[in-house]
Amino acid sequence: MNPFLLNNYLGPDYFCDRQEETEILLKNIHNLSNTAVFSQRRIGKTALMKHVFYLLKKTQSTIYLDIFPTSSLKEFTDYLATAIYKEFPIHKSIGRKFWEHIKLLRPVLKINALSGEPELTLDISQTEQIEKSLPQLFSFLDQQEKKVVIAIDEFQQILLYPEKNVEALLRTIIQNLHNISFIFLGSDSRLMIEIFNSTKRPFYGSTNFMTLKKIPKGEYVSFIKNSFHAVGVKMDEKIPEMILSLTCGHTYYTQRLCHEIYADQITLIREKEVKETLYKLVQQNEAVYFQYRNLLTKTQWKTLKAVTSEEMVYKPYSQEFIKKHDLGSTSTLKRNLEALVDKAIIYHNLSVEEPYYEVEDKFLMRWLQNE
Ligand SMILES: Nc1ncnc2c1ncn2[C@@H]1O[C@H](COP(=O)(O)OP(=O)(O)O)[C@@H](O)[C@H]1O
Ligand SMILES: [Mg+2]
Repeated sequence: MNPFLLNNYLGPDYFCDRQEETEILLKNIHNLSNTAVFSQRRIGKTALMKHVFYLLKKTQSTIYLDIFPTSSLKEFTDYLATAIYKEFPIHKSIGRKFWEHIKLLRPVLKINALSGEPELTLDISQTEQIEKSLPQLFSFLDQQEKKVVIAIDEFQQILLYPEKNVEALLRTIIQNLHNISFIFLGSDSRLMIEIFNSTKRPFYGSTNFMTLKKIPKGEYVSFIKNSFHAVGVKMDEKIPEMILSLTCGHTYYTQRLCHEIYADQITLIREKEVKETLYKLVQQNEAVYFQYRNLLTKTQWKTLKAVTSEEMVYKPYSQEFIKKHDLGSTSTLKRNLEALVDKAIIYHNLSVEEPYYEVEDKFLMRWLQNE
């Protein structure tokens, strides 16, 4: 089996490090205090969550919902009901109790044709109905013997719901629970900070924060070595470092490159094999990268190339950077950078002591550098 996973969590053997973060989350959950976790996309929030849930499985009920696909409070409510249903399926006695508990909301159970997963929808539509039903769902969990932990992934999505006062509603419900801890995860740090760290908003001061950074290099080097070793793949001494330097230590791109090397049945990894595999991955995405070029303005593209060539840009508004890459006036550059950050092509990494700009997609970065 390929030891480098891309989408799923299959246990600690395939999971690299995150010991400190795991401990902190376990401690917070144990103390029923809530945590907001944010980081760049694809650094490993969801995987960390699944890891923590895996460790908790025997002692707690764990409810996970990814609300990225939802666009209203009604859908949020359905997603929550579905997540509870999955944790307490109907053939268990708690499952039957849950079904009884929500009977008046006339739940309809469907099986998603594509994923094969169950989906509950509740027969509620008026905002007032939803505002009453949501507390009911949570209060069911609150009454269980075992402690409950709920992870809500891509939480910033609630800001896009058309209903008013969603934050205040959720905050009030959560405040009155005694048996449930929450973990809110989000990739859009700007929006997440807005929710949790702005003094005027309901969630202010209610949660612990965790910023998930890149996995430390030493840990990742050992993980790559051991994982390949465990499946009988040999490599030159410096290969893990080389891989990490090509991917800038970004979790997804590192996993992807290693996954591909293993999938290609390479039994001895040398520099040549790493480069060829990276080249292949970049080629596969080329059509998408050409699209980017068509969608961006000329000066946005130029700005992207400038960031690419420096890899990490600490001082974009320095005369040196602007002159070297001919990026126009400071205000033009500012606009272009903001547009690229908005489109999630460039990432403004604020979670380090000295913030910097970098290209999100490390394969795009390598492709641009090679152009
Ligand atoms: N600690 C880890 N060890 C190994 N693979 C990981 C780890 N964290 C994340 N991954 C992998 O990296 C990719 C991105 O992780 P994910 O959790 O989906 O990121 P996020 O939720 O931050 O967007 C996934 O393919 C996941 O399997
Ligand atoms: Mg995620």
